[in-house]
Amino acid sequence: MSIIVSCNRGHNASTTLLVDGEVIFYLEEERLTRFKRDGTPLMGLAKVFDFVDYIDELVICHTHREGPQSDWTGEDIYKSWIRKLSRGKFEFNVTCIDTIHHQMHAACGFVHSGFDTAACVIADGAGSFLQSDAYDGCTLFEFETIFKAKKPLTFEQVYKHLGTDKSVGFNLVDEDTGTYVTEHPGIVKAYEAVTRYCGFQSIDAGKLMGLSPYGKPNPKLPPIIRDGFVNRDLFMPNYPNGAYIICDRYPGMFSVDEESSQRGKQKGEYSENQKDLAYAIQEASEIYIGDLIQKAVDITRKKKLLLLFSLLLL
Ligand SMILES: [Fe+2]
Repeated sequence: MSIIVSCNRGHNASTTLLVDGEVIFYLEEERLTRFKRDGTPLMGLAKVFDFVDYIDELVICHTHREGPQSDWTGEDIYKSWIRKLSRGKFEFNVTCIDTIHHQMHAACGFVHSGFDTAACVIADGAGSFLQSDAYDGCTLFEFETIFKAKKPLTFEQVYKHLGTDKSVGFNLVDEDTGTYVTEHPGIVKAYEAVTRYCGFQSIDAGKLMGLSPYGKPNPKLPPIIRDGFVNRDLFMPNYPNGAYIICDRYPGMFSVDEESSQRGKQKGEYSENQKDLAYAIQEASEIYIGDLIQKAVDITRKKKLLLLFSLLLL
């Protein structure tokens, strides 16, 4: 018998128990802790032992390796937690999936698609944190990736937009894999910034999408996309989590302060400006992702597409 436990560490943390390839449970941590979007899936990992008394493999998924350690032993907290729960009665392997976040998104879609081959389009606020010797050794984040996927399971990267908050401009770093490094955030960061400006949490993409039909085209708003990239005059990314509208650059236009933003959240009252910006980001996202899909079709010549987006709804 093969018993695999996998967990997602970040927001909306979750745990899955697989026995001989069958999902016994998939559970978000918030269901056990009653704390919305809870991370660090300790309760989910403990739940595993309601069903089995040993595991063969622990898979830990996130966008980077850094995380809490056990006191005294210095072990990774999740490995340590399983060891403690097991009272040392069994050995288990540990696999970390954290440097291929976008490939993981692609695999989740492709494996379950039933397709033999497809193009996979992924967009994220900040996927895996990748270290680079270039650009003064700063961390690069995955924003948008296109893979050509086929069975047996292989993923050929044909496009990747990586970025950083450093002023690095625009760089084609590998023509073969279509890898670019820029100082421009991806569209998801712009979506997060507007979500926050409208009084929601950065990851409340669904609430912003719900607000967007109440807005209207407003030509006074600065462009969200400029020359094919997210407008850095308007948006300040905050890697890895969240982003902001640079309100001070546009005096009199973005005057919604934290207090009135919270009031809107509580009473369902939103300014015309908030509603129009929600409309604008929704429209801009559809155009931006539409262009990305067209790029995927042009490069891969595939007719079957899998679209996998984090914190963005179209
Ligand atoms: Fe993601």
